[in-house]
Amino acid sequence: MKKYPDWLKTAVFYEIYPQSFMDTNGDGIGDLQGIIAKLDYIKELGCNALWLNPCFVSPFGDAGYDVEDYYRVAPRYGTNEDMKQLIAACHERGMHLFLDLVPCHTAVTHPWFVASSKHERNQYTDRFIWTDCIWHDTDGLNALRGYSERDGSAIVSFFSHQPALNYGFYEVRRPWEQPADAEGPRETVKELKNIMRFWLDMGIDGYRVDMAACPVKNDPEHKGTMALWTEIREMLDTEYPEAAMIAEWDQPEHSITGGFHMDFTLNGGLSNYTDLFRAEHPYFSAEGKGNAAAFMKRYLEASELSGNKGLICLISGNHDTDRLARRLHGDELKIAFAFLLTMPGAPFIYYGDEIGMRYIEGIASVEGGYGRTGSRSPMQWDHSKNAGFSTADESRLYIRQDDAADRPDAASQMADPNSLRNEIKRLIALRMAHPALQADGLPEMINSGYPLVYVRKNGDERILVAINPSAQTNECDCAIVPAGELYRFGGQAVCDGKKLVIPGQSVLVAAF
Ligand code: GLC
Ligand code: CA
Repeated sequence: MKKYPDWLKTAVFYEIYPQSFMDTNGDGIGDLQGIIAKLDYIKELGCNALWLNPCFVSPFGDAGYDVEDYYRVAPRYGTNEDMKQLIAACHERGMHLFLDLVPCHTAVTHPWFVASSKHERNQYTDRFIWTDCIWHDTDGLNALRGYSERDGSAIVSFFSHQPALNYGFYEVRRPWEQPADAEGPRETVKELKNIMRFWLDMGIDGYRVDMAACPVKNDPEHKGTMALWTEIREMLDTEYPEAAMIAEWDQPEHSITGGFHMDFTLNGGLSNYTDLFRAEHPYFSAEGKGNAAAFMKRYLEASELSGNKGLICLISGNHDTDRLARRLHGDELKIAFAFLLTMPGAPFIYYGDEIGMRYIEGIASVEGGYGRTGSRSPMQWDHSKNAGFSTADESRLYIRQDDAADRPDAASQMADPNSLRNEIKRLIALRMAHPALQADGLPEMINSGYPLVYVRKNGDERILVAINPSAQTNECDCAIVPAGELYRFGGQAVCDGKKLVIPGQSVLVAAF
């Protein structure tokens, strides 16, 4: 059996937050037709896969991560027919499309939850996790209480308006905790498979799975959760062998061992990812006081513990993290992308990070975003009204835009050969041209301080990557003599077979 579908080997993903990407009907909110209209922009950058945040019917208490109907596109984004068009438009361009699967909870307005809250037993009574008495404690789990006709508290999985779907408990401690093989949990799994099949049958290429570590409760080692995803993987392998799934988990030894093709790094996860771009002293800051060693160590350990079976993917950021440009600026961003795009796995670029869109400070929370709202502002396309995002009155925009006079925009950056976007475009093209720089294989570390130096290999191809984010010249021992420069940013690195010396804020990618 294949570790993962071949197309992932060269995949570079672009994450789209649908409400903020492109508005085509002037209501101030992005839509599926807007995404279709901008596919050529994404393709021109070099990305060949998309991940869309949830775009299903929802009361939008958590920006769509509170699903009310898993089978229908939210009217504000369009229709299922628009989704079919988007899928076809992606495939025509050789691009793949992931949707967001939210398996752990629904919205309180979901008809299953409404039915489950009823006193009379019905088909959905056990679709969610309920205690057997409103006055009893909830075994350390958060709950929605006093909301139902039924006597009991509903366990929630994230916000208190997101009741947890019932996939059972690994360690059953109380009478109301059902084991994973009980009828209620099994029915939930059946429905989850049907939801997945629905969009896969429509033609999508896979899922990003929300809170993938959490479906089975009281599961400290994730054994129950891994069994669930292994079962789902078996379904994919038999019914949709070209489809893939990526876990929001950040613990590859569990996610990948448990059936996922890919996992990605998260802020506050186990990967030390924060050290690189968002710590007090990020590794990629020119001040040169950061640390990439813990990240690299954890990365290599996690790859090994997952049997090198799947891909560990690095993100530029996502809708939950601060914008990359909150801490890093100018050349620092270009150098950070040189790293992101020369590491294994399938890189993920969050919309707008390719032009260095800023985190919008101090704005009110929108749809449960809170501090995340500043990273979700509408894409800046050009110099026109609302930066080309929408023709709506400014006051109707989904989230206020960056109002700085020098806010970055896509059109200006496409016209400027030295822009961040064009640097990223060159780096993606470099990756596409060299199998050694693609998804497979571990980096062989030469130095994890300043500079960061590693080797990537594939067949006969051997490539040295040396990155010095610091403003100072740095050096390290290195026995490699580069033969052909493939990419350079900043000053010229010198490597004589003993020592590698690299000027401040420079990158060298060379064959040997
Ligand atoms: C994930 C999503 C986040 C959402 C939460 C609850 O972490 O990325 O945006 O709020 O799950 O679904
Ligand atoms: Ca719209």
